[in-house]
Amino acid sequence: MPKQTQSVAIDRSRIPAHIAIIMDGNGRWATSRLLPRSMGHREGAKKFREIASYCQEIGVKHLTVYAFSTENWKRPKEEVDTILSLFRDYLIEAKEELGQRNIRIRILGDLAPFEGELRDLIEEVQTINCREDALIANIAVNYGGRAELVTAANAAFAKKGGPITEEELAACLYTAGQPDPDLIIRTSGEYRISGFLLWQCSYSEFFFSDLLWPDFTTEELDRAIFSFQNRKRRYGGV
Ligand code: IPE
Ligand code: IPE
Ligand code: MG
Repeated sequence: MPKQTQSVAIDRSRIPAHIAIIMDGNGRWATSRLLPRSMGHREGAKKFREIASYCQEIGVKHLTVYAFSTENWKRPKEEVDTILSLFRDYLIEAKEELGQRNIRIRILGDLAPFEGELRDLIEEVQTINCREDALIANIAVNYGGRAELVTAANAAFAKKGGPITEEELAACLYTAGQPDPDLIIRTSGEYRISGFLLWQCSYSEFFFSDLLWPDFTTEELDRAIFSFQNRKRRYGGV
């Protein structure tokens, strides 16, 4: 995979408020090195920490990452177990340190399959106190955009018992109360959405990177932001 080298200067006064990332390519990163796929997920988890702290440094307010989809259960059990155990490690770290690091964690997805210690951790980390200016890190786990919409539609309808509005539906999504993503990045040279934020991406700008997620860099994130800053969002207007 060719490495990008040219660096760009982003305008720090116009940083997208909400960046969402489809962190793809962990498996290919590992297999191209003759390593088990689990090693790719390990590197991917490290990369997430690096990119989250860079986002915090440059003033991103919301970062949403796709960590595990409702379809990813199709993968071999060993791989699923690795991904969930890396997720658990991050939650433990969050419990211990992220209050100090000022990162507020939100988990987006259907939490029903998570029980016991993992479920307790998920609930607990979301209550960690942070300052008002904390980076909100949304981690999408067992997330599927269609599942989210069906759940939200049922919840909104149950609340009201009649036809629902866009606002009422949005208030029942996992992302309730948060702005839609301004910029959605997908790594690994794939050009598809794979069920990510189907409602919220209506007017998001997209950036596709050829880098595999473990090879992603803060410079590549700058390139995505630079590209974003040079676009004109029209929202259907002129
Ligand atoms: C993204 O990397 C992580 C998850 C989907 C959990 P992949 O594991 O999909 O990596 P590739 O696409 O097979 O290379
Ligand atoms: C999307 O990646 C899900 C995550 C990054 C967690 P996949 O690798 O699962 O998507 P497809 O199968 O290539 O569409
Ligand atoms: Mg993939």
